[in-house]
Amino acid sequence: MRKKVIAGNWKMNMLPDETIRYIEELTPLVKDSKAEVILCVPYTDLFYALLNVQGTNIKIGAQNMHFEEKGAYTGEISGKMLKSIGVEYVIIGHSERREYFAETNETVNKKIKSAFSYGLKPIVCVGEKLEEREAGKTVEIITNQTEKALEGLSNEQVENVIIAYEPIWAIGTGKTATSDDANDSVKSIRTKIAEIYGKETAEKVIIQYGGSVKSSNAKELFSTSDIDGGLVGGASLKPDEFSKIVNYDE
Ligand code: PGA
Repeated sequence: MRKKVIAGNWKMNMLPDETIRYIEELTPLVKDSKAEVILCVPYTDLFYALLNVQGTNIKIGAQNMHFEEKGAYTGEISGKMLKSIGVEYVIIGHSERREYFAETNETVNKKIKSAFSYGLKPIVCVGEKLEEREAGKTVEIITNQTEKALEGLSNEQVENVIIAYEPIWAIGTGKTATSDDANDSVKSIRTKIAEIYGKETAEKVIIQYGGSVKSSNAKELFSTSDIDGGLVGGASLKPDEFSKIVNYDE
C-alpha cells in the first residue's frame, strides 16, 4: 500500500510572521494524519518554517532549485543550499515554471538528478494544456514529460520520486478533472513507468493529483485506485481548509 502524500504549494504567498502563525494553527489539526504532510514554501519562509515544524509531523519543501551546486547564477538557490538548512522536498518543473521561467524537460531532468545527489526528495510536476487535452494528446504529453524527467535515474531513485499530475487547465481555475479522468491519467503515467522501470518499481511511485483540490473534492480524488494524494495550491493557504484536505478520510 502506498502512503498518501499531501503537499501544500504556497507559490509566491506568505511572509515569515504568517508562516509561523499558520504552522501553529495547522500543527494540532494534522497531528494524527496518516498521510505525509508537506508544506512547500517560498525561500524566504523556509528557515522560519523549518524551525517551527520541529517536533511535528509536518515536512518542509522548496518550490524550485538550480541544478548546479554553486557558481555565477545570480538569484538562484542550489539543492545543496536547501539541504544545508534542513529542507527535505523540492517541487521541480511546476507548470508555472515551465511557462514563465523557461523550465524544460531537460532542466527538469537535471534538477531531479541534482536533488537526489543532495538527498532531497523531488516532487515532479507534469500536465497537459487545455489545447493538448482537446486534441486528444493528454496521455502522450504526460507520459513523455514523465519519461524525459526520469531519464537516467536508477530504479531506486524512481521509487523515491513523487510525481504530481497537474492538468494545467485545472490549476487555479476552480475546474477539477473528474476523479475518474484524473485517475486514468495517473494510471497512464504509472503504466509508462512500468514499461521502462518494471511493474514493481511503478507500483511504489507516489503519484499525486493537483489542480483546484479542495476539501470538498479531496476525498473523491484521493479514494481512487492510483491517486496517492495531492499537490494543493490555493486551498493550502488556509490552515483549516488544508487540514480538511489532509484529513479527507475522516
Ligand atoms: P491550485 O494549484 O490548487 O491552486 O489549482 C495547484 C498547483 O499549482 O500546484
